[in-house]
Amino acid sequence: MSGQQPRLSRRGFLAASGVALLGAAVAGSAGNAAPGPDTVHLGDFWLFGRYDDGCTEPGFDELDLSPVQLPHCVTPLSWTGWDPASWQDRWIYRRHFTGSAGERHLARFDGVMTDAEVHLNGRLVVTHHGGYLPFEVELPGVVAGDNVLAVVVDGRWALDVPPNLPRSAGPSVIDFYQPAGIYRQATIGAVPRIRLTDVFARPADVLSPGRSLHLTCTFDAPVLGQVTASVRQAGRELAHGAAPVGGKTVEFDVGGLDAVRLWDVEDPALCDVVVTVRSGPRVLDQRVVRTGFRDARFTTEGFFLNGRRLKLFGLNRHQWYPFAGGALPDRVQRRDAEILRRELNCTMVRCSHYPQSSAFLDACDELGLLVWEEIPGWGHVGDDAWQRQNLADVAGMVVRDRNHPSIVVWGTRVNEANGTTAMYQRTGRLARQLDPSRSTSGALASPTGGRYAGGDVEVLAYNDYTARRGAPFQLRPPRPGVPYLVTETIGTLAGARAYRRTDAPATRQQQAELHAKAHDLAAADDRYCGLLAWCAFDYPSGWQRAVGGVKYAGVSDIFRIPKPAAAFYASQVDPGVRAVVEPGFAWDFTDRAAGAGPGATIWSNCDRLLLFLDDRPAGEARSRRGDFPHLRYPPFAADLVVPKGRRPQLRIDGYAGGRLVLSRRFSGDRGTDVLSCVPDDPELRADGADATRVVIAARDRFGTLRAGTAGVVTLELSGPGDLVGDTTLDFGATGGAAAVWLRPFTGRPGTLTLTARHRTLGSATATVRVTSDSTRS
Ligand code: GAL
Repeated sequence: MSGQQPRLSRRGFLAASGVALLGAAVAGSAGNAAPGPDTVHLGDFWLFGRYDDGCTEPGFDELDLSPVQLPHCVTPLSWTGWDPASWQDRWIYRRHFTGSAGERHLARFDGVMTDAEVHLNGRLVVTHHGGYLPFEVELPGVVAGDNVLAVVVDGRWALDVPPNLPRSAGPSVIDFYQPAGIYRQATIGAVPRIRLTDVFARPADVLSPGRSLHLTCTFDAPVLGQVTASVRQAGRELAHGAAPVGGKTVEFDVGGLDAVRLWDVEDPALCDVVVTVRSGPRVLDQRVVRTGFRDARFTTEGFFLNGRRLKLFGLNRHQWYPFAGGALPDRVQRRDAEILRRELNCTMVRCSHYPQSSAFLDACDELGLLVWEEIPGWGHVGDDAWQRQNLADVAGMVVRDRNHPSIVVWGTRVNEANGTTAMYQRTGRLARQLDPSRSTSGALASPTGGRYAGGDVEVLAYNDYTARRGAPFQLRPPRPGVPYLVTETIGTLAGARAYRRTDAPATRQQQAELHAKAHDLAAADDRYCGLLAWCAFDYPSGWQRAVGGVKYAGVSDIFRIPKPAAAFYASQVDPGVRAVVEPGFAWDFTDRAAGAGPGATIWSNCDRLLLFLDDRPAGEARSRRGDFPHLRYPPFAADLVVPKGRRPQLRIDGYAGGRLVLSRRFSGDRGTDVLSCVPDDPELRADGADATRVVIAARDRFGTLRAGTAGVVTLELSGPGDLVGDTTLDFGATGGAAAVWLRPFTGRPGTLTLTARHRTLGSATATVRVTSDSTRS
């Protein structure tokens, strides 16, 4: 490994190639995740294998280990059929680096599933429990020359750590799988002798011109000196403040912020706060954190953002992806937030059921997507040790994330679990102590039962699965006297067991109707703060109603490709922003599908939809306002009865405010269908971690997905990178579309070319440029 060893030093960080030099990173401009200056991503040159005796020792024989890059999952996975036995074990990751003696070194791991032991040069330096929160470790034994960091990762269910329940049968007793690995980023670096370990920037009196920023700064050793803070927005300093410090913490206010632009879902204006600590003229440390000024209130009359009522409109998100488990990098995490905010028009997401990646939360801040964040847990509470870890998770979550303006509530109860009032009073109290600016809550399985008797949360959140299959969809009325939010509904409990593109048209349409009805009912009554339906994306699970290891409850599939239910969400946006016309049916003429028929639903935000068959007028669609009296944009019903044997082209013209805003065409002729292969991003960085999705789909000649397409797609990748995905995709199982991810190798710029081939649809190619990683210069 010696040729690849990075060198650590306070003045910079020499990467393996010996060319890269990293200066002090300005952490805040990229979000709130980075630990401080002089850190470097520790993504590449890891050696990995199953745990073996002596594997933490410096001299361990590494011949049988495989080179891997972070983020990493311990086992290969497909998009379905995950087997927990493949990750239920102990694993070893080893990383060599060249140290410089006499400096202070620190490593940070953003997420290791599930437990981790970090050894430096054969000495255990830290043990961390739990797979969803970061930990930092001081590396006191770094020597000049070769050092080895050995991380033992334990991915077994038997660990007494939320959400695991060692006394229950196995990972299928909770409704999501958790594959093991160092699945989020890791960094390492030389840090200052006195370090600013935390800055909490809490906006106060946001709605008054006298608003201020309350700063709490924490150091890891006593400081005698001065702390200054500069509050900046759009590159301009708005205000600054200073305070003397004589110890390990200091609190002070920065005023004069009347000119600040407030953060809002429509205009997510952020601020950078540059905090510098000095002793005399000498700068000891500096950190930039990002925040936003907004006033968020849950009341018995609804939710208010900056004094305006906002009906929370959203979905739950799990963080799991096909092929990689949780191990996809920042760019991919951010993409989920974009899908939720820009494609599904959500104003809120629930991070079910654990703290999610910092990159995802940063993107929520930037996009104006409000967040419910909660501690890990699902359905049950464990023993005393488990509960102690649960309390530690509250602290870890709140301290990591309290500067994110998008987060408006902390879930401090275990999702749908009993547990005692005393326990939840402790978790709620701890969250409020660490962050007095946000409400606490927790999703309940019963809104009235004894579980809420203690009044331990400030927002009553209910997973409302009361609707009976077959009966008209309904929600429970809000519980009086307490702010009320629906945190889950529908899933695969109110209707079918699974919603796949391969299911019958009526089943797919049913999911869309249920989601629309749920939001319509929530919109009808101001006492609902809003509704977060279950769920955004299909996810891997072995629990009830899973089919082949997948829960098909998402409005988009596990590849994040929309299903018809996503069309309802897509349509809930001002047509001035995006005009939407999305048929809820497949315009297809096979044995299983015969066009649309009478009363077919079209999801749209237009005022009028005119229909044409082979460009001849075929009437106008009727508004379904009567079925959805409270939706901002109710769907339409269209009678599209086509004589047997004909396969005309459908055209839908959408008008808004009297103007034609969108005209879409749909082909009934499969003979002209094509294969498409489209990357989310045209360019990636050669940093060994970056990745992008490529969606491969059968489409009609106007670009609409042809869900009924069967057959196998074979994939071939050329260029300097890996395919994160299967090399064959069975469209018959995925419903005419699927995705893979491309991941460039470290330090090798070039072009990635992915070619997809299908027997009848032909071939399609995606190209992605790979540029050298600028942070490595
Ligand atoms: C809820 C649970 C979710 C999910 C859902 C299934 O009870 O909170 O995580 O399992 O049921 O529809």
